[in-house]
Amino acid sequence: MALTKPTVLSAAGTAVGLALVFNPQSQPIISCFGFSVLGAVATFHMIPKMGPLFIKVGLSGKDLLKKEKKVLPETMGAVVGLVYMFCLFFFIPFMFYQYLVTETSGAGNRDEGLEITVDPGDPGTIGRTLTKFPHNKLASYLSALLSLQSMFILGVADDLFDIRWRNKFFLPAIAAIPLMIVYYVDFGVTRIVIPHFIQPLFGNKSIDLGFLYYLYMAAVAIFCPNSINIYAGVNGLEVSQSLVIGLSILANDILYLARPHNLATESHLLSLYLVLPFLGVTCSLLYYNWWPAQAFVGDTYCYLAGMVYAVVGILGHFSKTILLFFLPQIFNFAYSVPQLFKIVECPRHRMPHFNEKTGLLEPSKAHFTKPPHPVVAFVLRTLGKLKLLGVYEEDGKLVAVSNMTLINLALVLGGPMREDKLTTVLLSLQLGVGLGALIARHTIATLVFGYDNI
Ligand code: UD1
Ligand code: MG
Repeated sequence: MALTKPTVLSAAGTAVGLALVFNPQSQPIISCFGFSVLGAVATFHMIPKMGPLFIKVGLSGKDLLKKEKKVLPETMGAVVGLVYMFCLFFFIPFMFYQYLVTETSGAGNRDEGLEITVDPGDPGTIGRTLTKFPHNKLASYLSALLSLQSMFILGVADDLFDIRWRNKFFLPAIAAIPLMIVYYVDFGVTRIVIPHFIQPLFGNKSIDLGFLYYLYMAAVAIFCPNSINIYAGVNGLEVSQSLVIGLSILANDILYLARPHNLATESHLLSLYLVLPFLGVTCSLLYYNWWPAQAFVGDTYCYLAGMVYAVVGILGHFSKTILLFFLPQIFNFAYSVPQLFKIVECPRHRMPHFNEKTGLLEPSKAHFTKPPHPVVAFVLRTLGKLKLLGVYEEDGKLVAVSNMTLINLALVLGGPMREDKLTTVLLSLQLGVGLGALIARHTIATLVFGYDNI
């Protein structure tokens, strides 16, 4: 067999990945990076092999914004998700290596690795030895795995059966239950810091949201996966937005970890352990999903990506920072509300319209089947005047508006574009938001909240 360039690259990638996983210092962060590289190599190889098999069983979709409308494999998120889960499973012993390999002073004494607690007042403890093993850390990690797996199954089920929107919308909150239980037992913090200027109103630096905080966490778990899934429709967008959000979270984690003796170190380490392998598999997926796409990711990937970020935000108690990185998705969701709640017609696909003559994308339209309520018509016309919506009239009557997505809005504002240019524009926006959010989080937040907990 001839050695092709990708084969040599993959062999090199595997060697580097293994060397990092089994690094001589047994550093979990380096091992995690190793799994990220191995995950990327495995995904890179598996997608072209699995693609035709997926098409065979009907998991395929037409590339709608092209002249040829080629049929491409769908649900490649299932391959990515599986590789990612395996990376997380295999990483467990490396994460806890220092606790699993106990130093001994010989003759079978595991004394260096054990903490002996004897309370003279409590005869029950005499002679008992308690290990230093951090069971709470393992519980957090396993609860994250359980939530991610549940979301993965939901994503695959959706790709197979096209579950109705109203049925699937709230399911991520159920997937987040293990997470919230561990949060309650382990952490239980339901207080949030409030801005400087309203502190006198409450007579405190923070307020306790109690049960409402759990509702808020469930809302984050519902929002993140769904918001990525509805900010989609042009090649590469689902994956590249996830990549940029992940990189922003990683940068935020590194900012915390770079400062020694930080209270938030454990939270950001866990975040890094979950995000880094996800970024590895995502990079390879992007290679196949970027314009002109060779494969589609399916709802499986969108849900999993959103859930990874919701999980790290919830477990690490930094979901507000995560939401800053999700600003384009929040805007897209809010802008979509009239269509999602059927105030304005919502077609099955809201992706842009492909103009076969020019080869460029234009805003797609939602046509009114009956005249909109005068108040709705007034609001839509006002948005049109502000150039925030494409408004189409015939004989003074409103007949259609551009579909209410950030993707179409970019075309309303920027004019027709080729698909890859549109993805690049939206990606630049995501990058700008990520950078801006990082700066805001660590500068403006200090002014508003009084301190930065870096
Ligand atoms: C969501 C959006 C929908 C958008 C779709 C695109 C809402 C409420 N739903 O629906 O408006 O059209 O995502 O993913 O906003 N496809 C392409 N090119 C791409 C990506 C997808 O042509 O780059 C097409 C393919 O035919 C693919 C299909 O979209 O098979 C996937 O759609 P699906 O993910 O099932 O749509 P939803 O998530 O339900
Ligand atoms: Mg989808």
